[in-house]
Order: sequence, then structure tokens, then C-alpha cells
Amino acid sequence: MEIHPDCERILLSEGDIRKRVVELGRQISLDYAGKELMAVGILKGAMIFLADLVRNITVPTRLDFMAVSSYGLSAYSSGEVRILKDLDQSVEGCHVLIVEDIVDTGLTLNYLLGNLKSRGPASVKLCALLDKPSRRVLPVEIDYNGFTIPDEFVVGYGLDYNERYRNLPQIMVLSPRVYKKGE
Ligand code: IMP
Repeated sequence: MEIHPDCERILLSEGDIRKRVVELGRQISLDYAGKELMAVGILKGAMIFLADLVRNITVPTRLDFMAVSSYGLSAYSSGEVRILKDLDQSVEGCHVLIVEDIVDTGLTLNYLLGNLKSRGPASVKLCALLDKPSRRVLPVEIDYNGFTIPDEFVVGYGLDYNERYRNLPQIMVLSPRVYKKGE
């Protein structure tokens, strides 16, 4: 298997991801049987995961997207997560499934869950491909979790460092020398 020169090692192979995404899709389809789903992808990181996930969901599913920017730890005191792109559709009365790439500190998801719950949906759940629980600042309940990973910076399958590496088909640990370059 090809390893990108900027990466230290492969954490999750294409096969690992494919298998887990099929399982998640099957579980979500069972849980939402008889309902219509509104899958809300969080741009840009969840784009590739969402595309694969929804093709494994068999209940009627609508798609929408949000883009947010988090100010990291400093956002904790102000509680500030900025919405860069809001939903196109109303979620009132809908069964919303937020689809995210990774839950790290939990700041972004904590905000998004609260924000979407305030819009009068029938339900709101969260599906995250990756969970990095060692870095959690605010608690987040992940209803569907792909993989729990150690505290390492990962890229690929939609996840980036400075907008790069999103197109790698595997999830890889980025070499620390890449962020030490101070790009
Ligand atoms: P949180 O608010 O700290 O949970 O931040 C979640 C966001 O941080 C994710 O949507 C990612 O965009 C980014 N992020 C956190 N950890 C990683 C990582 O290991 N690789 C790439 N992006 C990450």
C-alpha cells in the first residue's frame, strides 16, 4: 500500500474505512426505518465520508451542508463558533443526522448540536467517522462513531492539514515535521 511521503503511517486503510462505513449505513438504516432522514454534512472534512455513507443508507435521505469555523480553545470562553455557510433547507420536524469527520475538543459539535436542536427538528443525532476522546473539552454524545483514534493528527479521506491531503484514500498520521515547517 502506497504511503504518502508526508505521512508517518497508515492508521486506517481503504478497506477498514469501507467496511465500517457499510456497518454504519446498515445501523442507521435500521434505526431510521419508516422515517425520512436529513443528513447534514459539515464542510469540508465530512464531504467524502458523507458521500460514501449516504450510499449505504437505504431510508429516504435528504442532504444539506453547513460550514463552520471554530476558534479553538479561545472559543470556549466566548462559546463562539462561526457559521460560514448555513443550511439551505429548514430542519423543522425533520430527523437530522449531523455527519462530521472528527470530534476532537468537541467545541464545534457541542455548538452545532445546540444550534440545530433549537430549530425545532423531530430529532438530532450525530455520526462522526473519528473520535479523539483524549482531547475532549466539552462533552459530546456520538450516536454513530466510526473509529476511536489516539491523539495524533490525521489526514486523508476528507481530513486536511492546511487544505491539503483531503484526497488521500486512507487515513494517515501526518509526520510532525510537516507542521514544524510552519507553513
Ligand atoms: P473540535 O471542535 O475540536 O472537535 O474540532 C473538530 C474539527 O477540527 C474537525 O472538524 C476537523 O476539521 C479539525 N480536526 C481535529 N482533529 C483533526 C485531525 O487530526 N486532522 C484533521 N482535522 C482535525
